[in-house]
Amino acid sequence: MKPTIDLPIAFFDSGLGGLSVLREAVRIMPQEDYIYFGDSKNAPYGTKTVEEIRDLSLAHAAHLCSKGIKALVVACNTATSAAIASLRETYTDIPVIGIEPALKPAVRIGSHPSVIVMATPLTVRGKKLHELLGRYAQDADVTMLGCPGLMEYVEDGELDSPAVRKYLKELLSPALEKKTDAIVLGCTHYPFLKKTISEIAGPKVRILDGGAGTARQLQRRLTEEGLLKQPGPAGHIEYEESLPEKIPLCKRLMNMPW
Ligand code: DGL
Repeated sequence: MKPTIDLPIAFFDSGLGGLSVLREAVRIMPQEDYIYFGDSKNAPYGTKTVEEIRDLSLAHAAHLCSKGIKALVVACNTATSAAIASLRETYTDIPVIGIEPALKPAVRIGSHPSVIVMATPLTVRGKKLHELLGRYAQDADVTMLGCPGLMEYVEDGELDSPAVRKYLKELLSPALEKKTDAIVLGCTHYPFLKKTISEIAGPKVRILDGGAGTARQLQRRLTEEGLLKQPGPAGHIEYEESLPEKIPLCKRLMNMPW
């Protein structure tokens, strides 16, 4: 059934990370209503199999579509990598938007740039990232860093604790030994660690993520479909979590300055 303009836009992620994409959408389309679904109970997705993530993603999409939505945003690089094709095949009446690591803007930083991509183990192994590398990064020196265990710090609200700082130092220091132009945050949880990552990498390293680009793509697709609301009073955000006790942290992360 064709969606109507007054319906909300749904976002989902394996947990709280997708809020870093939602906040970009709210920034450019505050008049819209949103439903955010975080699946912290089944997190992390980055160490699961493609089939497991596809099944979870299809279940979340079915649940969100049953509420009546006008677009679906897969606010998770890992779920996009594993499930975007199946989601688009299943839901043909609404725009289904995914997120990709921001490799394209990163490689435009200079000639032969040196770029670190931080992502979940599944995203690092996935076909999608390797296609992106082939398409955009022929002339760049790219180091891929799988970060098992990193999203858990964000899930616990630990954004600059000594433990997360130690994790990030140990992970990044060897890669940062050579001159680095940019770090791509290829998991939607990592923008919440941007300040800590930037302190470790130093002021000359640009830190990029795909949140703003995904929000713009959502806006473009809504416009094409005649589904974008006119600017007006701020809309409503509904939070749903498979671990409901995470909802206060959702609200805290949403309201954090960035
Ligand atoms: N937030 C997710 C992403 O963008 C994944 C984190 C996880 O569940 O491993 O990839």
